[in-house]
Amino acid sequence: MTEVERSAGQNLHEMVRALNLTGHVGFDSLPDQLVNKSVSQGFCFNILCVGETGIGKSTMMDTLFNTNFDSTPSSHDLPGVKLKAHTYDLHESNVRLKLTIVDSVAFGDQINKQNSWKPIVDYIDAQFDSYLHEELKIKRMLHTYHDTRVHACLYFIAPTGHSLKALDLVTMKKLDTKVNIIPVIAKADTITKTELQKFKTKLMSELVSNGVHIYQFPTDDETVSDTNATMNQHLPFAVVGSNDEVKIGNKMVKARQYPWGTVQVENENHCDFVKLREMLIRTNMEDLREVTHSKHFELYRRHKLEEMGFSDSESKSLSETYEEKRHEHVAMLQKKEDEMRQMFVIRVKEKEAELKEAEKELHNRFDNLKRQHADEKRKLEDSKKRLEDEMNLFAQHKAQVQAHTSTMGKKKK
Ligand code: GTP
Ligand code: MG
Repeated sequence: MTEVERSAGQNLHEMVRALNLTGHVGFDSLPDQLVNKSVSQGFCFNILCVGETGIGKSTMMDTLFNTNFDSTPSSHDLPGVKLKAHTYDLHESNVRLKLTIVDSVAFGDQINKQNSWKPIVDYIDAQFDSYLHEELKIKRMLHTYHDTRVHACLYFIAPTGHSLKALDLVTMKKLDTKVNIIPVIAKADTITKTELQKFKTKLMSELVSNGVHIYQFPTDDETVSDTNATMNQHLPFAVVGSNDEVKIGNKMVKARQYPWGTVQVENENHCDFVKLREMLIRTNMEDLREVTHSKHFELYRRHKLEEMGFSDSESKSLSETYEEKRHEHVAMLQKKEDEMRQMFVIRVKEKEAELKEAEKELHNRFDNLKRQHADEKRKLEDSKKRLEDEMNLFAQHKAQVQAHTSTMGKKKK
């Protein structure tokens, strides 16, 4: 397209005319088509439960989804925090939900809790990374790809009635740019009504003063804006979980029984469980999925691509950036190769010097030995000569004695 044509095209776009249809066309079924497509594909939703061991994470998941996920309690003596993910296929009416529940195992059990947040952040990043990997593939299969990115993080706060623990604050702060945090006060049946209200206010003011951003239920869609705005005021939800059913009137309800009374999970006067279920599953599940993709994943993707050297600057195209990176890489390899070659030459020289030194020493030792040998030889020759002289002397002496003895014998005769 030439420049003139493009600007003409832009003008055309600006002048969009509204027309009346004179008969039924049928594109009013587009929303239905979208719904049908989504329903046939099924949905996936991934919840991360963060909270100390035994705080009621698994019970809450069972209560929320009205099932038994068969989770095993963890022990308190693990050396570090781990994350365990389990995926389940759930059906309700004709809607299929692929639910992944990720549990923080052994959270808050170590004496040194300094890095307890790290495995959680690493897990979230790893899921973003594998999605980005799929997205950047030449042959993308995003419609069949199992999206494991965490859509909601239920952060279980212990019902202490005091304030947030340092571990909770640090962990939430590390997570708030990566995931939608929904804080909940666990085991809310163990705290009195007045204490609970004070505790909620205290928690919220602590989160605000520490700059922790928790997920806010969206108020831009007018069908749910009022409910969501009211629910935002109730955060953090004080929840009670239970797998036991008790007969109240003529109905079986989820409840926890105590010697002094019964706490009904789904009774809004007893706890905020219904509010949590309503907000998490029935009203805002799609928004949580959407925010995860458009806000948290987008941020991760941007950082990651910038880290890889890509940028949106007008001056550089994608292929130029790639070329630049390739050159950088080749230059780095060349530098490494040069360094290795230099190192090799230095090593060879060092070895040569060592060998020369050894050879010199060997020569010296040989010379010494030769000298010693010559000395010994000379000494031996000296003593041989001396002995020969002595022998000659002795022979002379002997001859003299013999001559003298024979002269004496003749005289006697
Ligand atoms: P781990 O997976 O081992 O870390 O524990 P968890 O956080 O999954 O806790 P779990 O759901 O196994 O519950 C631990 C204990 O707390 C069980 O005895 C539950 O019955 C009890 N519990 C769970 N929810 C509540 C609650 O809302 N109130 C009270 N009082 N107790 C609860
Ligand atoms: Mg559990």
